[in-house]
Amino acid sequence: MSQTANSSSVTFSGPAGLPADYRELLVRMLSIQSRIESEYMLAPERTLNRPLGLAPTPEDKAEYAAFWSDEVRHASYWMRLLAELGVKVDDAFMATPMPIYIFEMRDQARDWIEYGLFSFFADRQGAYMGYEWLGCSYEPLARIADRVYKEELGHAAFGYRLMRRYLQREGESGRALLIQNLKKWYPAGLDMFGKSGSKRQLDYLRWGLRRRTNEQMRDQFEAEVNNLLTKLEIEAPDPSAGRRYL
Ligand SMILES: [Fe+2]
Ligand SMILES: [Fe+2]
Repeated sequence: MSQTANSSSVTFSGPAGLPADYRELLVRMLSIQSRIESEYMLAPERTLNRPLGLAPTPEDKAEYAAFWSDEVRHASYWMRLLAELGVKVDDAFMATPMPIYIFEMRDQARDWIEYGLFSFFADRQGAYMGYEWLGCSYEPLARIADRVYKEELGHAAFGYRLMRRYLQREGESGRALLIQNLKKWYPAGLDMFGKSGSKRQLDYLRWGLRRRTNEQMRDQFEAEVNNLLTKLEIEAPDPSAGRRYL
């Protein structure tokens, strides 16, 4: 990706002395990330045991377990950053609604291919967020961003590999099932970036906590995803069909 560096010249070395509105935005952003990723650490029956049960080959199981282990560590990063800001990831925190609906779809997966689609879309969006945080204004977050970014890229690649293997193994019926599932996963993937007109994204940009708008991120994401689907000889769905956030 080629983007200019974060526009904000202000940086903060830690939680002490943060401006109130900056602190609020930071806590909001980290809370979304933590709410999503803490499920790996705190709900292994859904995020590890169930997918391992559905994974059809030893290779799929081993790759999934490695992916899960990265995510448990990511959860520990967000918990630590939030703890430093006085926010505890406890039962009450985890009882708040899931902020991005694609993560609920993962737990409703009926077929292994859906875990592939999940990583193909959701972990790719994780990589896009990790990229936003490279050199961001909150130094404790910037310090872990490179590792998170690279690992999320790896997870997105795992999703693609899983889909490719599935197509090779399952033949035409597998291809039909993938295309059918894509109808719900594709709009959920594009919806992960939120509404194009949201006001808060501009606050994140102004404070150097992100560098691209929702729409810029979504457009790049759509182009990248479509390109990969073409490689699998699958036609990209209509990007406006089935969407909840435009
Ligand atoms: Fe992660
Ligand atoms: Fe991931």
